[in-house]
Amino acid sequence: MTASQRIVILNSKGGCGKTTLATNLAAYYAHHGFKTALLDYDPQGSATFWLSKRPSTRAKIQAIPAYKYSHSVTRSWFLRVEPNTERIIVDSPAGLEMSGFQQLLDKADAILIPVLPSDIDIHAASHCIADLLLVAKQHRRRQRIAVIANRVRKNLLVYQKLERFLKSLGIPFVTTLRDTTLYVQAADQGLGMHELHSYRNRDDLDSWQHLITWLDQLEKNESRRDDSAG
Ligand SMILES: Nc1ncnc2c1ncn2[C@@H]1O[C@H](COP(=O)(O)OP(=O)(O)OP(=O)(O)O)[C@@H](O)[C@H]1O
Ligand SMILES: [Mg+2]
Repeated sequence: MTASQRIVILNSKGGCGKTTLATNLAAYYAHHGFKTALLDYDPQGSATFWLSKRPSTRAKIQAIPAYKYSHSVTRSWFLRVEPNTERIIVDSPAGLEMSGFQQLLDKADAILIPVLPSDIDIHAASHCIADLLLVAKQHRRRQRIAVIANRVRKNLLVYQKLERFLKSLGIPFVTTLRDTTLYVQAADQGLGMHELHSYRNRDDLDSWQHLITWLDQLEKNESRRDDSAG
């Protein structure tokens, strides 16, 4: 059986880019030949809607609309991924609290927190991260959390504050994603940034590569740990 990497996108603050990150990451992995599933825990169903628009000619992504779960079937059956799935991307809703974190964190290999460059968003993110760390501490998974600055127009001073805060907690700030309508254009077609044929998105692909490299490294460390554990 192939080992899978489960990547959870989380931030209680609405509109910070959770679904954009989830859909682009799912599209990235599928496009690069990984068997991928997209779990949507948001009752708004945005990630599921994006997937419904995905052309059948594009690399397939398994849709799991977790938010539709009802008790008529067992939960594990409803949420099951196809055999040999290599990447499981989890989109979560805004307004999630500690108990929700607990459930999502349970099987997470990586937790990504997108943050917008405003004082209010950074303030909200720091509360969310503090809560998350409390839960993560119980799971001993602190090193698997990373923050992504989203919708950045230029190098903003406001991030220095966030960077200092993250540094004090030992959480990496893995990449910065630009504010660009290319994300909207890709989403409208059920695609990810990596599937657009645009000369305009080269810098964006570099930014994505930082995140992918961090996730790859995490997976390597994990398999090394598994090997040494026996
Ligand atoms: N880097 C970006 N550049 C341009 N537009 C973006 C970018 N990231 C997100 N957006 C846009 O911002 C809006 C909110 O993004 P998104 O839906 O991904 O946030 P969210 O955190 O999932 O929101 P919610 O909390 O409601 O689920 C969307 O219209 C999306 O297209
Ligand atoms: Mg969303």
